This record gives sequence, structure tokens and C-alpha cells, in this order.
Amino acid sequence: MRNIFKTKSISDLIQETRGEKSLNKVLGAFELTMLGVGAIVGAGIFVITGVAAANFSGPALILSFIVSGLACAFAALCYAEFSSVVPVAGSAYTYGYAALGEVWAWIIGWDLILEYTVSIGTVAIGWSGYVDSILRSIGINLPGQLLKSPFEGGIMNLPAIIIVLAIGLLLIKGVSQSAKLNNIVVAIKLTVIALFVILAFGHVKTSNWHPFMPYGWGGVFQGAAYVFFAYIGFDAVSTAAEEVKDAKKDLPKGIIFSLLICTIIYMVVSLFLTGVVPYYKYKGVSAPVAFALQQIGINWGSVLVSVGALFGLTSVLLVMMFGQTRIFFAMSRDGLLPKFLGEVNKKTKTPITSTVIVSIAAAIISGFLPIGIVSELTNIGTLAAFIIVSIGVVVLRKNRPDLERPFKCPLVPVVPAAAVVFCGYLIYKLNLATQLRFVIWFALGLVVYFLYGMRHSTMNKEEKKAS
Ligand code: ALA
Repeated sequence: MRNIFKTKSISDLIQETRGEKSLNKVLGAFELTMLGVGAIVGAGIFVITGVAAANFSGPALILSFIVSGLACAFAALCYAEFSSVVPVAGSAYTYGYAALGEVWAWIIGWDLILEYTVSIGTVAIGWSGYVDSILRSIGINLPGQLLKSPFEGGIMNLPAIIIVLAIGLLLIKGVSQSAKLNNIVVAIKLTVIALFVILAFGHVKTSNWHPFMPYGWGGVFQGAAYVFFAYIGFDAVSTAAEEVKDAKKDLPKGIIFSLLICTIIYMVVSLFLTGVVPYYKYKGVSAPVAFALQQIGINWGSVLVSVGALFGLTSVLLVMMFGQTRIFFAMSRDGLLPKFLGEVNKKTKTPITSTVIVSIAAAIISGFLPIGIVSELTNIGTLAAFIIVSIGVVVLRKNRPDLERPFKCPLVPVVPAAAVVFCGYLIYKLNLATQLRFVIWFALGLVVYFLYGMRHSTMNKEEKKAS
């Protein structure tokens, strides 16, 4: 029992990344930042903002983004410190192992499955919505039954399933190709966002910003918990740790730059979205950026933005799936998950088995569940992981003050404490059903850990051998 709180030695963790099972080192700070932007800008801004403005935040959407962005900024500084000390593929999971002990690592890893696999499902549903709207604009109507989950009266969301499986195949081909493709896709998505801002510029009516907070501060905070989804992904940068040339320097840069770029984008876009169209018109709108341009009569711009959004959502899928497979890779290397999840194919140097499994799981989620449930589950899982990581930074500073820290989170313990308070508050603001689902997921995770992970843990086995 004592062993479940045992931490893993950092030098062992780093040593493990150098063995025969190592991944290909091809990424630099630029690719990492692009990877971050690739993961971050997606369904959050292209799909979720409209509902957030109409139902919770009103024109104060920008404040919701600031609150949520602050929670992420505090957590990102903690991630950046960890990534420079432990540049290992498992991201938060590995940080938990190094700072807090095995059972905490497991809990984080289990939460990250919500963050990554479930968010792939969420984004794929958004992707399918955009495909449908583009096809409609050229007169092709897909049967509604094949665009909705059984919960919404359909059979399955077929385009969502197809895109998830296609992304899985691409990742099997290799990281280098995927990183290059990601750079192109990110450039396209930033271009269409810039296009939106330029086209919307002359159409802002300041009267649309009154009343600024129609649902009061309560609405602003609820909106913040909802749009948190838009920020998820900066931590995915750290899952690529073992594929980075100079990880200790480049990882913190990738994490912080990508978050910064996205925060600025979100603030500007939310200001324009609510400035050109009254907030209440976004009720039930699933493609708000395209919708805003339609409302001001720029239809060609709306179609272009939809196509760009499709690319944008694709890059999120790519990075999130990449991240999930790397976390499985790290967890299985530690024995907490079965070995086959960590196998690296000799030829492609990519973890094929875990990619196939993640693709199938995410395809099922996206095909058969509604977006509301899965996006909130993603948020709560991620917020929980952020809280544990932030506590971990303080614990590791105390237990291992000697460690070299190429990047140091400023003002410890104030910044980690702020991350805990902000993320905790956002969890509190999510709806009760989501909180209950999360408790069930958490309990299930503990059962799996005590039945499987604890018994197969490589660290535990090695200790037994040694004693
Ligand atoms: N932040 C990512 C998105 O908005 C997950 O799609």
C-alpha cells in the first residue's frame, strides 16, 4: 500500500526515454508552438463560442475568455516548469509520477483520457457539423439520421467517425509528416481567423455590447467554465517531449507561446463576434464565426471561414490523438497499462497499436454521443489534471530543491495556488450531471488501478525484486 505513493526517480524517467524504445527526435520550438496552436484553436472558438455568448456570457464573452485564460496561464506556468525538469512523453501523468507518487500519476493519466480521447470525440462532432453546413451551401444534403447520435434522434454521426479514423491512419504514418501537415493546417486556420476580423471590422456596432453582462457575473463565470474547452491543448505540447531536439528549452517556449497566441486570438474574436451580431442571435448556432459573416451579408467570407474551420478542427484532432497515444505509451512503459499499448513499430517508429485503439474509442464517442455531454466531460477531466499538476510543482520544489530547473514557474507557491483556485472554481461552475459523471469515471479509474495498475507497475516489481 505504501508503494502507491512512491514517486519515480527523475533520472530513471529520463533514462527510459533513451532506450531502444525511443521515439524519433524531430521537433523544435517553432513546431511545438504550432503543435500547441494546432491543438488549441478549434471547436472552442469555431463551435462553442456562440452558445456561450447566447446562454451565459453575452457580450462579456471576452471576460469569460479572460477568466478561463487566467486559469490556464497559471496552470501553463506549472506545466512549463515540469516540462523542463521532466521532458518525458507522458506530460502531466509523468509529472504526477515524479512529484506525487504512482496513484496520483494514475489519476492524472485517467483524467487525461477524458481530456484527449473524449475531446477528439467532441471536435469530430463539430467537424461533422461544418462539413454538413458546407455541403448544404452547395446543395448536397446528407441524411440527418447519419449526422446525429442516437441521443439526438439519429443513428450515428458518420462524418465524425470517418474523420477520426482517417486521422488515426495519418498518425500511424509518422510524426514528421504529421508535423509538416500540422504547420500548413495551422497557417490556414490563422488566416481565416484574420480574414474574419478584417471583414467584421467595419461592421461592429457598439450598441451590440449593451447590456454588457446580461446574465451578470454568474453568467460570465459559467461561460468561462464552458469556453475552457477552447484553451485545452497547450499541454499537448508536452506530450511530444520525447520527439523534441532540445526539450528542456523548447518545451516551456512551446507551451507559453502557444497559449499566449491563442488567448489574444480569442479575445479579439469574441469582441468582434459580439460586436457585429447581438449576442442572443447566437442561440443554437453551431458555426458562430461563419454565421456572423452571413448576418452582415458576406456569404463568400462565410464559406471560406467554414472551410478554414474544417482545417482547424482537423489539426486539433491530429494533435489530441497524437497526445493520447503518447500518454498511453508512457503509462504502458511503466506497467500501469498493458504492454501492447506502448509498443513502437520498428519501421515507422510510431506506437501503432495505441493509435488504433484510441481511434476506435474516439470514433465510437463521436459517432454515438452528443456534443454537450462530451465537451463538458473533457473540461472537467482537464481541470482536475491541471489542479494536480499545480500542486505537484510545489511538492517537487519542496522535496527536490536540488533539481536543475531550466524554466522556473514564477512566484511559487502563489501561481500554483492561483491555478488550483481558478480551476477548482471552474469545476464548481460546471453542471451537476457533469460533476457526477466525473465522480463515476474517477471511481472506475481507482478500481482499474487497484485491480491492474498497482499489480503490474514496473516500479513496484523492480522494488520487490531488489528486496
Ligand atoms: N481547444 C480545442 C478546441 O477548441 C480542444 O477544439
